[in-house]
Amino acid sequence: MNIPLLHRLRDAQGAFVSIAELGDGEAFDSVQTDLDELERFGFVLESHPYRGVAYRGPAARLCPDQIEHELGTRRVGRRIAVWNRVISTNDLAANAAASKANEGLVILAEEQTAGRGRRGRQWVAPTGSSLLMSVLLFPSESLAEAGWLTALGAVAVAEVVAAWTGLDARIKWPNDVRIAGRKIAGILVERGEGAVIGIGLNANLSQADFPTELHETATSLRILMGETVDRSELVRALIRRLDAWYDRGWSLGPDALNPAWRDRSEHLGQMVEVATPSGSHVGRLVDLDLRRGLTLAESDQDGRARQFSIRDVLTLTPCNDGAGPGPNAPIVAP
Ligand code: BTN
Repeated sequence: MNIPLLHRLRDAQGAFVSIAELGDGEAFDSVQTDLDELERFGFVLESHPYRGVAYRGPAARLCPDQIEHELGTRRVGRRIAVWNRVISTNDLAANAAASKANEGLVILAEEQTAGRGRRGRQWVAPTGSSLLMSVLLFPSESLAEAGWLTALGAVAVAEVVAAWTGLDARIKWPNDVRIAGRKIAGILVERGEGAVIGIGLNANLSQADFPTELHETATSLRILMGETVDRSELVRALIRRLDAWYDRGWSLGPDALNPAWRDRSEHLGQMVEVATPSGSHVGRLVDLDLRRGLTLAESDQDGRARQFSIRDVLTLTPCNDGAGPGPNAPIVAP
């Protein structure tokens, strides 16, 4: 597919561009063939007999050529596969772990028949509405902790969502990305031969696409931005952020991710209840560190600081300030 041609059309921001200009010396017929191919794929173009062609909108389905074109990443996105329907993108990525040549493989699907969320929940999204994406990585030992990989996914998603919406995207422990308390994305890390970071990001869901019980707790880019988004461009942005942070991890070590993860936390400075295998603790969350873990100024210990390793935290639940555990139960993924 002629993606530079697509870019020339898109850059004209809705204005008509003549075929001669679009072709840049190419024969009329060959430009027309390329335009036909773009239209057949689903890009919305408007043709006018004298004025030329205008870009009217992205293809409704994910476009592999558009995603891959001059992506320029080092690891993530070296290979990309787009499927119409799969059981779970995480399964396909895990199956590819037999070969280390698949480091950075990105699996995308328009539909999952048994998408998984955390804690055995389902992850359901109407066909073609979301980003359903899994990335296969072979991290170094120091980057292989599930907590670090989850933070990698969450930071990358939060940055992209913030950049696209202009809103403050926050990470709700441990794997949700939320805007103003509403979940827009979830991360599911599964480790086996390699590590798979699964990401479900609510892109073009309308309010009606969510089950009623999630109307108050979930949102999408479309709801926040008031228009449907180009999911292929969204994938590109996300792959680039994942790659940038993963690369920093390789060159600078796992701590490189810490400031961004900490700054995006929804809970820092807030009262929380931390459940661990040895019991529950309530206090103000005074620090978050991917290596040192959580530091809680415990309420029933006169605010004395206590540290919990990330691996020991079963749940972290926001409380009503000073009033013990509050009504902010963990959000169930759509
Ligand atoms: C959660 O919030 O519980 C995590 C949800 C993760 C969902 C994504 S969708 C793509 C990938 N494939 C899956 O089966 N799950 C993840």
